[in-house]
Amino acid sequence: MSRHRVAVLAGDGIGPEVVEASLPVLDEAAGLEGVRLEWVHFPWGCDHWQETGRMMPADGLDLLRPFDAIFLGAVGRPDVPDHVSVRGLILPIRQAFHQYVNLRPMELLSGLPPVLAGRGGAPFPPESFRMVCVRENSEGEYVGAGGRFDQGSPDERAEQLSVFTRRGIERVARYAFHLADRRSRRLLASATKSNAWQHAMVLWDEVVEEVAQDFPRVTWRPYHVDALAARMVSHPESLDVILASNLFGDILSDLGAALTGSLGLAPGANLNPERSYPSMFEPIHGSAPDIAGRGIANPIGTLWAGALMLEHLGAPGAAARVEGAIRAVVAEGATLTPELGGRAGTVEVAEAVRLRLGDAGGAPPPS
Ligand code: IPM
Ligand code: MG
Repeated sequence: MSRHRVAVLAGDGIGPEVVEASLPVLDEAAGLEGVRLEWVHFPWGCDHWQETGRMMPADGLDLLRPFDAIFLGAVGRPDVPDHVSVRGLILPIRQAFHQYVNLRPMELLSGLPPVLAGRGGAPFPPESFRMVCVRENSEGEYVGAGGRFDQGSPDERAEQLSVFTRRGIERVARYAFHLADRRSRRLLASATKSNAWQHAMVLWDEVVEEVAQDFPRVTWRPYHVDALAARMVSHPESLDVILASNLFGDILSDLGAALTGSLGLAPGANLNPERSYPSMFEPIHGSAPDIAGRGIANPIGTLWAGALMLEHLGAPGAAARVEGAIRAVVAEGATLTPELGGRAGTVEVAEAVRLRLGDAGGAPPPS
């Protein structure tokens, strides 16, 4: 039996609820494939900040470093400024552990009421909406450099610097092209804005073009990010892998998730592809303080993030069981959380997924 040690950062808001409901499901899926997950909980987040003035201890990254993976719920609370919570926990982990790929599948699951009507008013066929965002996750607009000047005066100004490096663009582009090359449609759209950002995005375009030469089977093109956002709504069937900078990928992946029916469905994997550091897995939704503590948060994004983690840990059979069970529960439609029109709670949805782990039998998800 193989064993993996996973650091759990349940975090704030609905984070602890969705994580607690998901762990037994992931344990069972792993167990069915002869894999054992050992969870180690770290009580970091806004409560910790209130008690200690820090979101995680000063040696937090050292404590996380030896783990095989990190499983995160959500971070943030209304009474703590978002930049404090996020810059104190999520972003340092992503950046220090060189998790430079943020992989975000965005798929319409069969059985959900369509958000998009197809042209002519016919419901949009689920198989036409199957994208994955490869978001640059370590630099770009998120480097955090800059400052506030002349605060409080009429001349006040803020500078927020973005930094794009050839190495940073190249490694994430290579990951995205490699992924596109392994998918059936072999399409890649690169999100740019080189018409207005004449430095960073022109470099982005040049490097992506160079990387593309190594992947002749992938059909690709750059789109300005505004046009790409519109295309996700008007012609989603024309999109497959989306390569985007940190901020553009953040925005496009929320759009993609919302178009699939709920932000609560979408998973994210913060990957260090070289495996020199642990990778981190989390739902893309936030801490949702408005519904925290009510037991109605959708656990599917978290479960799906768990599936991405199992895949990364070398347990693709267990991952396929979780994904297959999620698809089965959603298609059945009897056990859904309120934001999807259902009446089930977090624990019931997770339990419904657990009960379907056996029948998936490791059926591979469509690519
Ligand atoms: C996400 C979130 C984060 C991001 C926030 C919490 C900083 O929106 O994971 O998409 O912008 O990356
Ligand atoms: Mg986001």
